[in-house]
Amino acid sequence: MDIISSSSDYEKIYRASIENPERFWDEVARDFVWHRPWDKVLKWDFHKPELAWFLGGKLNITENILDRHLPQRANQTALIWEPNQPSEAPRHITYAELKREVCRVGNLLRKNGIRKGDRVCIYMPMVPELVYAVLGCARIGAVHSVVFAGFSSGSLIDRINDCGCRLVLTADGAFRGDKKIELKSVVDDALMNCPTVEKVIVLERTGSKPAMKAGRDSWWHEEIWDMDDHCEPEIMDSEDLLFILYTSGSTGKPKGMVHTCGGYMVYTNYTFRTVFQYQEGQVFWCTADVGWITGHSYIIYGPLSAGATTLLFEGIPSYPDFGRFWQVIERHRVNLFYTAPTAIRSLEQAPLSFVERHDLSSLKVLGTVGEPINEEAWHWYDKNIGKGNCPIVDTWWQTETGGAMISPIAGVTVTKPSYATLPLPGVQPALMDDHGKEIKGAGEGRLALKFPWPSMSRTIYGNHKRFRETYFSTFPGMYFTGDGCRRDGEGYYRITGRVDDIIIVSGHNLGTAEIESAIDEHSSVCESAVVGFPHDIKGQGVYAFVICYNKPEEEDKLRAEIRDTVSKIIGPIAKPDKIQFVSGLPKTRSGKIMRRILRKVAEGESANLGDVTTLLDPGVVEEIKRGALH
Ligand code: PRX
Repeated sequence: MDIISSSSDYEKIYRASIENPERFWDEVARDFVWHRPWDKVLKWDFHKPELAWFLGGKLNITENILDRHLPQRANQTALIWEPNQPSEAPRHITYAELKREVCRVGNLLRKNGIRKGDRVCIYMPMVPELVYAVLGCARIGAVHSVVFAGFSSGSLIDRINDCGCRLVLTADGAFRGDKKIELKSVVDDALMNCPTVEKVIVLERTGSKPAMKAGRDSWWHEEIWDMDDHCEPEIMDSEDLLFILYTSGSTGKPKGMVHTCGGYMVYTNYTFRTVFQYQEGQVFWCTADVGWITGHSYIIYGPLSAGATTLLFEGIPSYPDFGRFWQVIERHRVNLFYTAPTAIRSLEQAPLSFVERHDLSSLKVLGTVGEPINEEAWHWYDKNIGKGNCPIVDTWWQTETGGAMISPIAGVTVTKPSYATLPLPGVQPALMDDHGKEIKGAGEGRLALKFPWPSMSRTIYGNHKRFRETYFSTFPGMYFTGDGCRRDGEGYYRITGRVDDIIIVSGHNLGTAEIESAIDEHSSVCESAVVGFPHDIKGQGVYAFVICYNKPEEEDKLRAEIRDTVSKIIGPIAKPDKIQFVSGLPKTRSGKIMRRILRKVAEGESANLGDVTTLLDPGVVEEIKRGALH
């Protein structure tokens, strides 16, 4: 593989990757262990859509993460685990140990009847066993579906049933800051409505002694102790499913994005090494949860397939105080640090002494992901954490893309605050105008991608039609990202935010339709409409306009109940920040809610609503403006 170490290398390699993408990826893919080489690099048709990479290739991704590294790295730390409680000792797990543990989980799954292609739901805290669980599935060709452990039982039900999971790996509970969260009871609630689940294996983490259902539930430690250290890897086709990960859609239920073995391995490894300019021996820390794509790609698959040391953090940035991130960086001499703008903004509020008391001199590269980073937070990060010496990589990508797409290459690309900068090799962005025409040169429009890359989602599990309609119908022949974007005169890209009904709250993707249907579950609520509004820390907050059957007598009490309902149905991350009670919503004559108007009201720009004459009842707008919450 050609290494990019200067901007002229980038230009040369980028050009070559566009002129002949097949040749480019063919070469990158040769760095891995394959049981059988591919016959053809790429087969694609964005109209159907049909996508396949490294056709006919056979591999097991865990051999590329574990077995192939053992000769030179058996005793190197693969995983550093930093627990939630600072008083608990961190753990260092070597590559040899990681392989042993992954194999034991693989054997445990096989013993419980799980075979290649079976779906396994993982609902666990950020502990080493979570990594063993993910890779244990991959070892035996089971398809993992990790569900973020902050989701409620309602979300878990949807995700388990949509893909028909046969087994759930979970824990008694999780530590999060000063809280103890019961996970097993959430699973128990969910499983009353999940007929496909036969077995539940429970890791002991908090000692909360949950009820265990005979015949279905068993303890991890009781099952694992006599498992063999050797587990024959399942030989997978490049295009066999590696995992499903759910992400919110602008309508309907969450979408189970499907990722496959070969392309995902190649792309996450390549982008990890390229974007962060990873050097042998460095410690990499991505603060995301494994429940999100960032955790899949850049805590587990990318760094470990590159033979790096990756850090897994169980806690939160504000516990026991606002210096926790900086303390962990100092303690483990972290070199490459990757976090979300929302975390930066919240830590920026704390006195600088929380940063200053720690030695951050090990840091070489800083990264951000998940939402646009505002200039002010960018400068704070650069000055106080990077001390002006660490390039910041603002990586733009999505659950659907599997890996970073538009991003600086650390130390190579000249950065510009709040710009994700330039496309990585193999990535071909297009800016599209409102008429579906491609904008050339500088301009602003909607962001699409013209050519496939190896880790793009292949489909939505069980719903290829929705896959086509969501991503390939807006601009025929292209993948539509759902994001707005500006390109400047130097060809730099700046993502301006979603242009559909998805809002990004603290870097988490939430569908407004999903929140609305949760709000509507409250017995007093007749109808609701949800939009995003700018929020200092979270980036965007959730603003709900709610119509009740009867005028509420105690508004604050009802607000608390509605929040609680959303929390129970989706999870605490989706709770509305603001709830405005209204008697009607601005609708067109065909009954469609004009969200543009609600967005303006939520943003505090009621004076500037534009044309409201096409509304069924323009009078309702005046009432909404008067009652706006700021
Ligand atoms: O709107 C973009 C925003 O996050 C969306 C994807 O969310 P998700 O699938 O949850 O994946 C997040 C982690 C990769 C995108 O459509 N987004 C992600 N990264 C950036 C961003 N917006 C601006 N700048 C970024 N660096």
